[in-house]
Amino acid sequence: MKALITAGGKGTRLRPLTHTQNKHLIPIANKPILHYALEKVAAAGITEVGITTHQAGNEVKEALGAGERWGLNITYIPQEEPLGLAHVVKISRNFIGDEPFIFYLGDNMVVGGLEKFIAAFYEAKSNCHLTLSRVKDPERFGVPELKDNRIIAIEEKPAHPKSAFAVSGIYIYDSSIFQAVNNIKPSARGELEISDAHQYLLDHNYSISYSEITGWWKDTGKPEDILEANRLILEHTQSRVAGSVDKLSLVTGEVVIEEGAQIINSVLRGPIVIGKNTIVDNSFIGPFTSIGDNCTIKKSEVEFSIVLNQCEITDVGVRIESSLLGAGARVVKATVRPKTHRFMVGDQSLIEIR
Ligand code: G1P
Repeated sequence: MKALITAGGKGTRLRPLTHTQNKHLIPIANKPILHYALEKVAAAGITEVGITTHQAGNEVKEALGAGERWGLNITYIPQEEPLGLAHVVKISRNFIGDEPFIFYLGDNMVVGGLEKFIAAFYEAKSNCHLTLSRVKDPERFGVPELKDNRIIAIEEKPAHPKSAFAVSGIYIYDSSIFQAVNNIKPSARGELEISDAHQYLLDHNYSISYSEITGWWKDTGKPEDILEANRLILEHTQSRVAGSVDKLSLVTGEVVIEEGAQIINSVLRGPIVIGKNTIVDNSFIGPFTSIGDNCTIKKSEVEFSIVLNQCEITDVGVRIESSLLGAGARVVKATVRPKTHRFMVGDQSLIEIR
């Protein structure tokens, strides 16, 4: 079995971070989102992986290389235009050939391995195996209609969902999916929808089986999804201290402190990860926070947040919470008069003042 992973898309809902970075490379617990997909694919014994990228997709290639790190052999498949997920499958035909494959949306995060889904696909001897997850807002997703434990229809982002499930971004197919993606028409938003391909399979008497994802599953399209995925991953963090913690500091809970990091007269309350060479001085870092490499946090408090590499947070009078700071961002006390807020803010940034 091969794997096909998406890493294209514009990530508009994650601007400004995605002005300078592919959303699939945004770190969750200090590891790019895509690494989680690659680790799971490798753990399932798959070695041949195709990754689709958009035209400016070189950064994904640069970040992942040929995949040796995971024992994978990665082929990059450029998607000239974002014409939908079924289009991604369509252009990957040569890479896939005739064998079954797993299609994995690179911005999805799921607890546990892929093995059970692959086993369920072979056991069901179906043409397509979907993974369903119960969600609060099915109208944001592909939604199945179920009858007697069978999927009888699938709609993309329906105004009136017929079940409380989302079709998650992990799919297993045999080659009949190519007939589907080659025969469907673009939707109103001009995309070849993967849900329409699934509906095509149902309409043409191909069988679709499914598994329910009983742990958590996240599609990381929005900032709050990224923070929630960070929380869920950090929940499983185990303490590892390679950096230094001075005697005046108090560390509780599961905390990763990478090499070269220095914790000085501070309170750390896990689960948190602190990247290489980061300095935390006279500060409080609260639960579910990931701080990248080479950051400086002084006389400040940060909780339930993601801070990317090279950030500076100095002498900020209020606790920073539920925040995402892009690489090199600085939040510092204004030292010159008049006593005002001063901003130097990138395009489409968001600042919320208390
Ligand atoms: C896509 C699919 C949708 C699926 C979702 C899972 O939606 O079109 O059917 O439920 O991924 O993440 P998108 O993220 O493109 O809105």
